[in-house]
Amino acid sequence: MQCQCHHGAVTTTTFDPADLEAVADPYPLLADLRRCGPVTVLDSGFVAVTGHVAALDALRDPRCGTRPIAVRYLDGLPRGAARDEMSHRINFLDPPDHPRVRGLVSKAFTPRRVTAMGPWMEKTAYDLLDRLSREASFDLMAEFAHQLPSLVISEMLGVPAADREALTSFSDRTAPLLGVRVDDTERDDAIAAAEDFHTYLSALLDERRKAPGDDLLSALLLAEEDGERLSRAELLSLAATLYSAGHRTTRDLFTNGMSVLLEAPERYQAVVEGSWAPAEVVTEFLRHETPTLFVARIPYEAVEIGGQPVDAMAPVLVYLAAANRDPAVYDDPDEFRPGRPGPQPLSFAFGAHFCLGASLARAEAEVMLTAVARRFPRLRLGGDAPLRWHQRGPFRGLDALEVHP
Ligand code: HEM
Repeated sequence: MQCQCHHGAVTTTTFDPADLEAVADPYPLLADLRRCGPVTVLDSGFVAVTGHVAALDALRDPRCGTRPIAVRYLDGLPRGAARDEMSHRINFLDPPDHPRVRGLVSKAFTPRRVTAMGPWMEKTAYDLLDRLSREASFDLMAEFAHQLPSLVISEMLGVPAADREALTSFSDRTAPLLGVRVDDTERDDAIAAAEDFHTYLSALLDERRKAPGDDLLSALLLAEEDGERLSRAELLSLAATLYSAGHRTTRDLFTNGMSVLLEAPERYQAVVEGSWAPAEVVTEFLRHETPTLFVARIPYEAVEIGGQPVDAMAPVLVYLAAANRDPAVYDDPDEFRPGRPGPQPLSFAFGAHFCLGASLARAEAEVMLTAVARRFPRLRLGGDAPLRWHQRGPFRGLDALEVHP
């Protein structure tokens, strides 16, 4: 990667965002990029933000919107479910729509609803692990890290457990639509998956409208503020977003984090023996192995990010994963050190679009970690093959994590 100083202040570089998809470990590339400067203009015209302070600047600046990102994506999408979903996706709404939709969602997706899931979540976690206890080895990702969040979000939304695998596949296949660049085969498959996802959720929504239950989808249907309700298109998009966001990133958070713990058995022992508190370990999972590598913003007018001028309408990629390892705010940022001083990681972003499910994701990861440490205190990595990482759109995770209980 080459950095060049232009106009005295702004640095440009040959780094290509798609480069990250080709490597198992994106952190050395992100560190190189950050060395060019906390805010860098890429040859492709994207602006890459890699410093923690600069990332906060971009995320909390109301002039940096997300709607124009949907507009860019919409250009490549034919009429249909993928297009409808993208145009109503909460991540890509700006005021006045964003506060309106977020306000209505917050009436249904309440802290109380999350807390109420606690006992069910714990019981389900132990049940899943008990079923694995007689195995000589198993895939912790597929058999546990995927199962729990997917069962939790299905239970919350009122999706029958038998339909989970189909919905997971729809959601995985649509993920590439959120990438920086999507190839044609992936796009066609994603568009087809979005149609199936839409058909399924549409039928579920109709059922709930006829007979509301005490699930989240019914609560979203009934949520009302100042006489306003969510439109059908908004409800469908939210259901798809919640289902996808509700399981994929939490699965990745736990699996990515567990791989780091198990790579050095003394780390896992520190959890088993109680010298590392689960809440602090989860915070360090979030920082050290960030599940969502980046989020995007587009400033409506010329702004300064981290003291650097950024043009109006320049596409800005905020590399959360890079900000989370910025040596300017974290000592020895590549070290895994639960309880370390420093700011909260930016893995759930910040500002208006701060992750709606952050407390649910944290609660799930803590329950999973505690349950695994109790049930399998001698857990160790299995298999000789090196770990296989993937990046789908902005999401980074492991394909599998073989372990011996
Ligand atoms: C470890 C798990 C998770 C991670 C790392 C994560 C990450 C994120 C990030 C980075 C954003 C901000 C996107 C942006 O600013 O452009 C976000 C937004 C969001 N997340 Fe999560 N998320 C996680 C779990 C969840 C869960 C469990 C749910 C729901 C059940 C959820 C629902 C949402 C929603 C609806 C938004 C959009 C909020 C808005 O635009 O106002 N997330 N998440």
